[in-house]
Amino acid sequence: MVIPGLQDKEVKMFYPPEELQMDAHVPDFNSYLAMYKKSIEEPEEFWKEAVQEFYWKASPTGQMLQYNFDVSKGQVYIKFMEGAKTNMCYNVLDRNVFDHNLGEKVAYYWEGNSPDHHMTITYSQLLKQVCKCANALKQLGVKKGDRVAIYLPMIPELVFTMLACARIGAVHSIVFAGFSSDSLAERIVDAQCSVLVTADGVYRGEKLINLKQISDEALKHCHEKGSLTVQKCLVVKHYAFRTTDACSKLQTPWNVKCDVWWDEVVDTASEHCEPEWMDAEDPLFILYTSGSTGKPKGVLHTIAGYLLYTFLTFKYVFDYHHNDVYWCTADIGWITGHSYITYGPLANGATSVLFEGIPVYPHVGRLWEIIEKYRVSKFYTAPTAIRLLMKYGREPLQKYDLSSLRVLGTVGEPINPEAWFWYYNVVGQGRCPVVDTFWQTETGGHVLTPLPAATPLKPGSATLPFFGVQPSILNEHGEELEGEAEGYLVFRKPWPGIMRGIYGNQERFQNTYFKKFPGFYVTGDGCRRDKDGYYWITGRIDDMLNVSGHLLSTAEVEAALSEHSAVAEAAVVSCPHAVKGECIYCFITLKDSREFNHTLMEELKRKVREKIGPIATPDFIQNAPSLPKTRSGKIMRRVLRQIARNEKDLGDLSTLADPKVVEVLFSQRCQAAA
Ligand code: WT7
Repeated sequence: MVIPGLQDKEVKMFYPPEELQMDAHVPDFNSYLAMYKKSIEEPEEFWKEAVQEFYWKASPTGQMLQYNFDVSKGQVYIKFMEGAKTNMCYNVLDRNVFDHNLGEKVAYYWEGNSPDHHMTITYSQLLKQVCKCANALKQLGVKKGDRVAIYLPMIPELVFTMLACARIGAVHSIVFAGFSSDSLAERIVDAQCSVLVTADGVYRGEKLINLKQISDEALKHCHEKGSLTVQKCLVVKHYAFRTTDACSKLQTPWNVKCDVWWDEVVDTASEHCEPEWMDAEDPLFILYTSGSTGKPKGVLHTIAGYLLYTFLTFKYVFDYHHNDVYWCTADIGWITGHSYITYGPLANGATSVLFEGIPVYPHVGRLWEIIEKYRVSKFYTAPTAIRLLMKYGREPLQKYDLSSLRVLGTVGEPINPEAWFWYYNVVGQGRCPVVDTFWQTETGGHVLTPLPAATPLKPGSATLPFFGVQPSILNEHGEELEGEAEGYLVFRKPWPGIMRGIYGNQERFQNTYFKKFPGFYVTGDGCRRDKDGYYWITGRIDDMLNVSGHLLSTAEVEAALSEHSAVAEAAVVSCPHAVKGECIYCFITLKDSREFNHTLMEELKRKVREKIGPIATPDFIQNAPSLPKTRSGKIMRRVLRQIARNEKDLGDLSTLADPKVVEVLFSQRCQAAA
């Protein structure tokens, strides 16, 4: 273990405010070090103590955490509390209502897209709604182990449905409601879902989205792929019940054989539902994340480890206390929402804001208005949102009282110093630590992160490992580097919340994360460790793009572009972007007879939006009469990246088959890019 000496004189440190330290769970740096040491040196004890918090119908039969990370020694596996029995939903709801007397406590303040729409949901109301939904799902034929696809906006029914699945032992597969019908179909087919839960429609800002129509298109695609497993489609009347449009602007297509209205089956169902007692290692959910081959990976998380890990990270990283009002602005369609809007906060009995809207609607002060309205004390958002709001200056914030804030969190991508200081000084008024949390869909929860009352901060660094996490930095040859170093960020041991596999594809799981360096989980990120042992994420080292904190693979964007009849070949690279962090720069080689013009560019953008979703819309498309390739025909992405970024010093081009290509591409680059 590296014990940081905090020797670094070059970077200014930011120390925890005393006010926060007074009643913090981890009140100083030495306490962090002591707890961390225990978690590594006596993991069995450490985890045994931590799981006392929860209800176990049966105890584990062996060691708390068992694993193999070394492909050369056989199959990779991770097991936490094997043999134990429990229920996720019981632990996050019934236990809070009945054992902790939190029935009347607010679980969620739901704040709609329009400030006129809001509601409050207590823990006992949440439990009732979840039970009703669970009974309705059973009535629709859902059984333990079945997969349920959820394509919903940020409305209470999204939380009801995921917890209802957890209650009856079904596996939820949530698809972000900004994804296209193709993406939804691909995910439904991969997980062989038997029910799809969606809504009629939703406003995002001023834009009305017909979710039911997209869902129907997705089911049609499933049918065309010869894999229509969905038997029932459960539809929430969100547009119909919760918008104030004078006359309906929405046509909701309806298929009597398959479609069922939520209010007809859920509202009428019984509010009592026995939880299904599950094995600790039974699957809880599947969540798809981009894979470098282009096909998304169904990351699989299981019950006990994920419950414990989201509970612990939420408690310690936000230094959660019972009077807090917590708000994470992510969408539940991403892992951040799964872990830190639903499971982590509920496991702690916390009160959260659940926000349906966007930061700039109906005005650019919306987030600050909501913080004031609910007196939010812990706030968690992404660097891309901070950069977006920075553009409007201090004025929109000054209208609101942000004095309730105590801790600020960030996630999704490295945070640049300018955004960090704005967050710290302007939003947090210099009194709130910024917890820069590094993690992944695969890690289930935070793995590198400061603790707000314990860890001195360095702007831009995710600082140090969470309890039980052992990071390491490897060089290209797989050798572990000590002390100050830069290389591949890997982990040598599992923690309870790490993924258990890729749904239906053990081989891809091993190949993606464990093959490159046997014995380690490989994150795909580059990382530097400074002389204090602090970790600094330097960005992805594979063919992935991080657009507004969301990972996309270059391959999936290329595949979408290549579907256009005019395209002979497409190559996609990332390029720095002031708000999004990275943006999408495409090089397109057209088929002989085709002409590159504005119409074609628009068609290509549309193609990508249709295949993946609006988040993947290309920012720049450049005509590339030919692409820089090696003699063996491999596209040299490094060179394309440098062209996109206008970096003239290209280094070694000796492996290039035709060096002239580069000059041509440089002369035609999209000037507006970096
Ligand atoms: C990738 C994971 C974890 C929820 C959101 C994204 C990047 C994430 C940080 C951070 C630097 C970060 C990494 C990582 N990333 N958080 N604090 N500092 N980079 O989940 O879509 O699975 O993406 O996001 O590159 O590998 P994801």
